Amino acid sequence: MAASKNLVRSESGKIRRVVVVGGGLAGLTTVIKLCEAGVPVDLFSLVPVKRSHSVCAQGGINASVNTKGEGDSPQVHLEETAYGGDFLANQPPVKAMCDAAPGIVFLLDRMGVPFNRTPEGLLDFRRFGGTLFHRTAFAGATTGQQLLYALDEQVRRWETVDLEDDKGDRVPGEKMVRKFEAWDFVGLVLDDHGTCRGIVAQDLKNTEIKAFPGDAVCLATGGVGIIFGKSTNSVINTGTATSTAYQQGACYGNGECIQVHPTAIPGADKLRLISESVRGEGGRVWVPRDPTEQRRGRDVPESQREYFLEEKYPGYGNLVPRDIASRELFKKCFHEKRGVYNRQSGKNENEVYLDVTHIPSETLRKKLAGVLEIYEKFAGEDPYTNPMRVFPAVHYTMGGLWVDFERSANGSLVTGSPRNQATNIPGLYAVGEADYQYHGANRLGANSLLSCIWGGMATGPAIASYRKNLARSAWDMPSSLFERAEKREQKKYESILAMDGEENAYQLHQELAHTMLVDCTIERHNATLDKVLAKIDEIDGRMKRVGVTDTVQGKMNQGAQFVRHMQNMVVLARVIAQGARNRDESRGAHYKPDFPQRDDENFLRTTMAMHQGAENGSPATVRYVRELDYDLLGTPVHVTDAVDISLVKPRARKYDTAGAASAVAQSGPKASPAAQNAPAASTEKA
Ligand code: FUM
Repeated sequence: MAASKNLVRSESGKIRRVVVVGGGLAGLTTVIKLCEAGVPVDLFSLVPVKRSHSVCAQGGINASVNTKGEGDSPQVHLEETAYGGDFLANQPPVKAMCDAAPGIVFLLDRMGVPFNRTPEGLLDFRRFGGTLFHRTAFAGATTGQQLLYALDEQVRRWETVDLEDDKGDRVPGEKMVRKFEAWDFVGLVLDDHGTCRGIVAQDLKNTEIKAFPGDAVCLATGGVGIIFGKSTNSVINTGTATSTAYQQGACYGNGECIQVHPTAIPGADKLRLISESVRGEGGRVWVPRDPTEQRRGRDVPESQREYFLEEKYPGYGNLVPRDIASRELFKKCFHEKRGVYNRQSGKNENEVYLDVTHIPSETLRKKLAGVLEIYEKFAGEDPYTNPMRVFPAVHYTMGGLWVDFERSANGSLVTGSPRNQATNIPGLYAVGEADYQYHGANRLGANSLLSCIWGGMATGPAIASYRKNLARSAWDMPSSLFERAEKREQKKYESILAMDGEENAYQLHQELAHTMLVDCTIERHNATLDKVLAKIDEIDGRMKRVGVTDTVQGKMNQGAQFVRHMQNMVVLARVIAQGARNRDESRGAHYKPDFPQRDDENFLRTTMAMHQGAENGSPATVRYVRELDYDLLGTPVHVTDAVDISLVKPRARKYDTAGAASAVAQSGPKASPAAQNAPAASTEKA
């Protein structure tokens, strides 16, 4: 493979940049690592970087630092992550992430993240779901915001750093990072060999559509929760970018794996997360034993409460993993009709109590103020003195763009391998919630901030070595390549503006979201999934008869933008529903009552979806493959859907007793429900 002579300037003298799309934790970390490797970056974000969805993360970031002397370690973290994900995650990337986690938290601490500390001044750690260890570092209950702001500052610094050429001379007017906020990714620029050479994006302020070369492109564009309507996701999380890449040839992995968080509250715009850290600090979930109970939660005596998670799962209690907790809440409300009485609506709702009223208010203020404030503001009730009313909500996308990795001899990753985080489109990388790599069929709480930051740390060096060995820079490709891509996307946008049919895209979104939410989340049945798929095809057809609500040109046009996103949501909805239909087993968050067992013989494999465009009037379909061949820097790569389970042997998954998760964990702390629910007040200071 011929290495390019000059890494900063292309043959034609232009500055060789890489494109990162997405300004959340994963995107920002990728940018920082690229800059550290001397690679200039163009960073695109749909919203101001500081409003990326990472800002909504509350509870914390996992790292087995073991400051409380419980016997925790990165090895246990790996085992519990693999086990929590029901063995659907490739284990070498998970090992690399867990090994890196303590260093990542120390790094964030040095960057100035205001983590809670113990009286001795050590970082404090709290409990989260799926483990008995105190493994989660936290900044009150606004951890995502604190991390995002810290990384944003680092990237802002790179925006001011002068670019130097290969001789070390400053390039006048050029900085390491150029930032484009309020730009919507609309497509990849692929050359005649299918290599990614840049992106096309739309400036939302004036609707200009423009192509940008990039020696590599990284999508760090988050999850797809909006396909399910209101969720804990931000309204930007439509999956439009990953869907577009999928439609352009990228493989999509484990699309059916969608996480429902057990505890959220309603809102006009979205559902607000009530963090798992509330339970990590001793919050208890219950319903009245008497289904006709109408007293306020706080007035129901202890003996008349059913702490159903603690009763059924004495080991992990309220901190069973999310898939299990969500199913139990769902069962309590929908199947047993035991949702609690709501004084505002005057009837029983599909809600349960989440109670922190037994925890000293000083502790609550130090550790959970951010989330309790959200509850008070949006539910209109004081959670310090009244049990909160919560219900499950779609929260996280475990599936995502399929990405590769290169395993090292010790079972981790080869640092800087261009295969790490690479999609099957050469030059296209994916990271964070946009990729499928780290969480298998169910993510453990507080592993998402970690996978975003670790993913960025793996992606930056991977792209740097890809670029170093790239025979020909994107900046030396003929300008016609970019003009063509630009025209293609302009035409698509014009065709949206010209849509004058009778259908309303927002109405169609509601219909799509309703069918996905009701029939493709916590419980899945093949007969209803068939109806979901038929409904998706119907919506797909009706999308062609949409009338755009706003035809303004040259100015911000949210109506037209929404049509584009909706078109892309329909495509990914099909991937999710068809993947769920095909997987006739129960694994992690994917639960089919008709197939209640995990089936490793037939389904311990990655779902790999490829787009099959609409043909002759019939709708698009999904082609599922068992193996993939792609070319990386002239070397053919062959991969299959086999999951790398070389480090932690799959075994039955159950959380009813303490320490069930791992042999190593069994020698760790064994929490009794009483100990779990005692307020962990002794170690924190403000
Ligand atoms: O519950 C929470 O605070 C969410 C954390 C996460 O999704 O990792």
